[in-house]
Amino acid sequence: MILLKKFTIYIIFCIFLQLLLNEVKSQIFIKPDLRYGHTSTLIHKKLYILGGTINGNNSSPKEEFLYIDFSVPFNTNKVTWHNLSSKDSIVPSHHLATTLAVDNTMFLFGGVSLNSYETMASSYKFDTQSNLWKIQEINGVPGKQGITSIFDESTIYLFGGYPFTYNVNDMFIINSNNLSWKKANSTNSPFPRSQYGAVLLPNKFIIYMGGYNNGSIPLDQVYLYDTMNDFWIIKQTSGSIPSARYSFSSILGLDKQSVIIYGGQEDNKTIAKNPLYVLDINNFNWYIPKVTGKIPSSRTSHKAVLIGKYMSITFGEGYNNESEDDLLLLDISNDNEYIWTSSFTPNNNIQSNQPTSTSSSPSKTNDIQLPNSQLNTKTNYTDVITSIIIGAIIDAILLIVGIFLLYKWYKNKKEQNNATLPNNVTLPNNVT
Ligand SMILES: *[C@@H]1O[C@H](CO)[C@@H](O)[C@H](O)[C@H]1NC(C)=O
Ligand SMILES: *[C@@H]1O[C@H](CO)[C@@H](O)[C@H](O)[C@H]1NC(C)=O
Ligand SMILES: *[C@@H]1O[C@H](CO)[C@@H](O)[C@H](O)[C@H]1NC(C)=O
Ligand SMILES: *[C@@H]1O[C@H](CO)[C@@H](O)[C@H](O)[C@H]1NC(C)=O
Repeated sequence: MILLKKFTIYIIFCIFLQLLLNEVKSQIFIKPDLRYGHTSTLIHKKLYILGGTINGNNSSPKEEFLYIDFSVPFNTNKVTWHNLSSKDSIVPSHHLATTLAVDNTMFLFGGVSLNSYETMASSYKFDTQSNLWKIQEINGVPGKQGITSIFDESTIYLFGGYPFTYNVNDMFIINSNNLSWKKANSTNSPFPRSQYGAVLLPNKFIIYMGGYNNGSIPLDQVYLYDTMNDFWIIKQTSGSIPSARYSFSSILGLDKQSVIIYGGQEDNKTIAKNPLYVLDINNFNWYIPKVTGKIPSSRTSHKAVLIGKYMSITFGEGYNNESEDDLLLLDISNDNEYIWTSSFTPNNNIQSNQPTSTSSSPSKTNDIQLPNSQLNTKTNYTDVITSIIIGAIIDAILLIVGIFLLYKWYKNKKEQNNATLPNNVTLPNNVT
């Protein structure tokens, strides 16, 4: 009887320890697989990372779907990754898709499945309130690989890409409310391409830059699509024109007068050595900005989103994730000096890369420059130890309380028994 009780306590202890470790594992100490060709989407201060493929392999990362909470301050060498992956997801493991946020919903378009036995639907919807996926076919809109989707005022723009045979240059314009669609004016549209850069400008033009067709496409010319009047304009650029490239990332600067690009590759072996450029959209002049902080390795097939004053870059190819962080933050609040930083400080009006009417000029004084990511493993290690110790203390307390209650229960029972049973009933005295 007592053995049984002890055994029960032991089991409860084990279950509790297991729960604790699972909690720790699923929240704080995920070191997610390195990946590229994923998507990143900011919805209500959460940055969702979906899909992608593992370096040197057409296989999927173990954590196919993650998010980072950007409502709290954190350091990039100690990111809390939340694992949303599920083995039963209706979305196949994939890469080269594009996502965008429409209110609480994330739309996923195109992409290519990593499994030969599963094909992608042309689009999916993820409800961030219920954490549920739904297939959302839009008849007539093909699934394309390697595109950047743009969203503005209930309208989704899907340009070019690779629908499985060759690159195209058509533009699908989808109404996000009723999912009806039309094609854009094709006169003067850019050459067919995929893996280009695209940014919505405050004047409602979308700028398309670089990309890949039968090689990398130069950035001496950029293309502007006027979403109000449905026509294309070609612009020659000047200044320090970046080398031809694809799979780079692009965002609108905080001043809304510039486009910032980062990384990318020049050919299938060469990652862009000069990763960071700014295009002044008033005169289409490229320049290399002044940057301080710890310069990270250049990356390609990563993703970037503007969050507050930070160009927030996730994963990609070209860096070692043992020594460098999977999330990079470039503080772009000072036009005269961008700063690579490892500390994220939320401000109250987090913005996505959609232009908004308010212009913010946050001060950078509260930004703590932390040395670098070499502390990485050490810090995480200390954290693991700390939570194991805390866990063990909690467990010990629960165990002692459990034993005490059991002891009391036995004492009561013994007294009762003593009242009703003959005196010679012996109870073992090792109840502690
Ligand atoms: C490729 O993936 C397989 C399993 O999917 C794994 O066993 C192998 O180590 C991976 N190779 C590389 C280079 O990552
Ligand atoms: C994340 O979730 C997936 C699916 O449930 C699982 O296979 C993977 O191991 C998880 N990763 C971690 C670090 O817990
Ligand atoms: C290669 O792409 C360029 C544009 O980037 C185009 O002018 C040229 O016709 C293409 N060549 C082939 C063989 O497709
Ligand atoms: C398409 O754009 C061209 C200019 O690039 C313009 O001349 C033409 O009228 C447009 N077509 C339509 C149907 O709007």
